[in-house]
Amino acid sequence: MNPIFDTARARIAALSGHFINGAWHKGSGATIPVLDPATETAIGAIAAGGADEVDQAVRAARRAFDAPSWSAMPAAERERLLLRLADLVEENRDELAAMETIDNGMPYGVSRMMAVGSAISAIRYHAGWPRRLTGETVPMSVPGNWHGYTTHEALGVAALIVPWNAPFAITCTKVSAALAAGCTVVLKPAELAPMSGLRLAELVAQAGFPEGVVNVVTGTGAEAGAALVAHPGIDKISFTGSTATGKAILHQSVGDLKRVSLELGGKSASIVFPDADLTRAIPAVAMGIFGNSGQVCAAGSRLFLHEAIFDRFIEGLVAFTQNLRVGPGTQDGVALGPLISGPQRDKVMGYIEAGRAEGATLITGGDAPSGPGYFVNPTIFVDADPSMSIVREEIFGPILSVMKFADDDLDDLAARANDSIYGLSAYVWTANLGHAHAMAKKLRSGSVKINGSGMEFALPFGGFRQSGLGREHGRHGVEAFTEVKSVMVGW
Ligand code: NAI
Ligand code: MG
Repeated sequence: MNPIFDTARARIAALSGHFINGAWHKGSGATIPVLDPATETAIGAIAAGGADEVDQAVRAARRAFDAPSWSAMPAAERERLLLRLADLVEENRDELAAMETIDNGMPYGVSRMMAVGSAISAIRYHAGWPRRLTGETVPMSVPGNWHGYTTHEALGVAALIVPWNAPFAITCTKVSAALAAGCTVVLKPAELAPMSGLRLAELVAQAGFPEGVVNVVTGTGAEAGAALVAHPGIDKISFTGSTATGKAILHQSVGDLKRVSLELGGKSASIVFPDADLTRAIPAVAMGIFGNSGQVCAAGSRLFLHEAIFDRFIEGLVAFTQNLRVGPGTQDGVALGPLISGPQRDKVMGYIEAGRAEGATLITGGDAPSGPGYFVNPTIFVDADPSMSIVREEIFGPILSVMKFADDDLDDLAARANDSIYGLSAYVWTANLGHAHAMAKKLRSGSVKINGSGMEFALPFGGFRQSGLGREHGRHGVEAFTEVKSVMVGW
């Protein structure tokens, strides 16, 4: 096995505690074990933080926000620090990727490219913003001589609450956007995959950010997460995770009207027209749901296939899917790693049972390789319909539900694709320019991707309906960490 995994294991075992004001703190001494989902064995432990550690971290972040070392730092210097952080992440790329593989389960190649690769791109992208976060000069119509303009000012202390499905990429995206805007942060990693977030704290210190600008408190959502959301010193919450938890956070933040951004669940549609390039569409549709074992908010979990290509597409899709090797992410050639936990595996298996019971036809997968490890084989149901829970609900596992569409009524097709409480992403495959633009307009989701997909940090990302509130990435993602101020100057 690649020796990088030994290095990563040693790093994981050595990391523990909360990172507050530039130093490590043990907290109460209570810990939560951290598991490798491919082996079901403990690889380390995190400190179980609560209100006390959260309070210390928020106070440290507030002091850092007010201190001239951060508040008066020139934009060019913030840019330089962010670029330095990106370089450090890149220098540690293999080890960080191996840590993510051991903690989250994703195949090593995927974590090098996706988890750490996107993290580097996100930090470099956001590094460009401090010097470009400009306001407007506004023509004034009130009587007199006026100069009117707007500025974007950092909101203050941001709570960043991160899920376990792509922990390092999401952590680095949120941290770098918040820092680019001039906020200071308290990060709460997911208890199921916290280790790369703790390692980031070390790299932030190494990059030379002032103490207290980035703090990390570990623990459960119910204790550490809830304490953070309730803390009156938090100005902004940026959360990625389940829709249920996002709603709870929004409720809990009403008391002092904290600013809240939510990136939540999805039930995204892939739509394939008969003129699509099937040699590209088949693997992309498959990896659009099976990649990261389906644990992706924007996963294309509902597939609409045109009847003229239905049989051909399904044949290719099943063949491709059956070639995907399921196994530990540390092994070469593995395409799909385990799910994150026993409960997540059981939940996914429950949906497979539900799909059968509700009358969908299982054409591949449906079972779980024997343990250890929380593996589920990639599974495809045809004859699915919107009355079924496998079509309505976010499963967050490698389960694809396939439906057929007949012809040319694009409004009807869009209505079927839009028939969901979610609206995060949509994927369209067609060579017909008219269909491409028509679907881009008719699909009610935060992103529409035509003939391909990928993570582009310059394009806003977020959801319609119950997929979320606000946007990350792009100008919108940085502005989400700011307040707009209007200034009028009489002369
Ligand atoms: P979750 O959404 O509850 O957890 C995400 C993060 O929020 C974690 O860091 C957690 O500690 C924190 N958290 C939980 N409760 C909190 C609270 N009351 N206040 C503040 N922070 C809190 O997701 P969980 O429980 O890990 O998974 C439940 C289901 O959610 C999964 O089975 C999956 O289907 C779905 N999910 C969807 C995600 C998405 O991106 N769409 C991401 C993660 C989970
Ligand atoms: Mg883990």
